[in-house]
Amino acid sequence: MEIFEEIEPLRAFLKGKREALKSIGLVPTMGALHDGHLALIRASKAENEVTVSSIYINPTQFNNQADLDKYPRTREADIKLLEAEGCDVLFAPQNAEMYSENQSLTFDFGTLDKVLEGKFRPGHFSGVALVVSKLFNIVQPDMAYFGQKDYQQFQVINRLKEELKFSIQLRSVPIIREKSGLALSSRNQRLSEQDKGNALFLYETLIEAKAQLLNGASFSKVRSEAEARVKKYEGVKLEYFELANKNTLQELGDTRNFKNGILLIAAFVNEVRLIDNMLLEVE
Ligand code: PAJ
Repeated sequence: MEIFEEIEPLRAFLKGKREALKSIGLVPTMGALHDGHLALIRASKAENEVTVSSIYINPTQFNNQADLDKYPRTREADIKLLEAEGCDVLFAPQNAEMYSENQSLTFDFGTLDKVLEGKFRPGHFSGVALVVSKLFNIVQPDMAYFGQKDYQQFQVINRLKEELKFSIQLRSVPIIREKSGLALSSRNQRLSEQDKGNALFLYETLIEAKAQLLNGASFSKVRSEAEARVKKYEGVKLEYFELANKNTLQELGDTRNFKNGILLIAAFVNEVRLIDNMLLEVE
């Protein structure tokens, strides 16, 4: 695997690949890689001749300094995992390569980034859009791969692509879970075994809610039951639990138009903030 920390040598390398008509797939990550990330690498390898992954803990998307400081950094293990998957290129820049000292660009996605994650993490999607724009511009991939785990992020990046006319095909890859159902996340590394058990609240709530909704229950009833159930999970604090339109992410409330419905949940397990989601997909 070729490893680049600087933009210009990476551009020169990829220019050669593009001239040889090789298709390029991009998998942006913040490292601490797990099977969820590797599923994206596999998806890119299946469709492209060159797969570029990036590992960059992007400071502008963290609205909480402690979360940024505690974000796991496992560079050597990440490199081994990428090599084992046959990833061709790793771009792992330092902050000075990605941002100037007086960086001040921001993005506003209207109603899309004011709800759910955007509501609880102000500025988060502006930072995501900024770094993803930079990566798209640096790598100029044919395709880029993101996980359904960060569902709202994918919608924001899709809007970014439309608005900035990036000529890149975006792919969304299904959520990879542990056997227990817990969605894989780099932040899971910060959970004790007991925390992991309690973190199952998120997945169990989604499964239970989906079954109840399809059985005719109203979402307000389903949500108040979840709010009552959370007390049984030690150290878990529910941040939001919503039923939304899967395209606009605006709340569906108690309407029974589930065709475009998605359930989205965020909760703290002690200090660690986790998210999960599930499409209703009713025919
Ligand atoms: P990160 O959290 O490292 O995630 C990188 C990619 O892996 C994202 O597209 C995310 O949705 C996907 N992913 C994470 N867990 C997954 C799982 N369990 N199953 C499937 N896919 C999963 O998301 C980011 O980094 C950053 O915001 C980034 C896009 C890199 C911009 O900085």
